[in-house]
Amino acid sequence: MPTPVPLIAASEIPPGEGREVVAAGRIFAVFNVEGTFEVLDGICPHAGGPLGKGTLNGGTVTCPWHGWQFDVTSGQHCLNDTLCQQHFPAEVRDGQVTVLLEETPPAS
Ligand code: FES
Repeated sequence: MPTPVPLIAASEIPPGEGREVVAAGRIFAVFNVEGTFEVLDGICPHAGGPLGKGTLNGGTVTCPWHGWQFDVTSGQHCLNDTLCQQHFPAEVRDGQVTVLLEETPPAS
């Protein structure tokens, strides 16, 4: 059964923006795509750049370090079919963007 992990208040991320959030022992990239929240693993697979600090254009985020681009609704790299960043199911619960983790988060 998935474990809900609240990440950030939905009101803190305006449409068209993203945030980097550390929770449950990992780094998430949280995006507001026209009112729908999408969550990716926040560490770029190229060289570890902060995807949550990237530029969001529609449903595409551009990594701030070297420009790799990902579809935030799926994690799919925009040029390389073999690269897919982990995408997490998420929803807004009590005003918090909440990710649903399959694995049990570490005790805090
Ligand atoms: S670290 Fe993201 S493109 Fe290089």
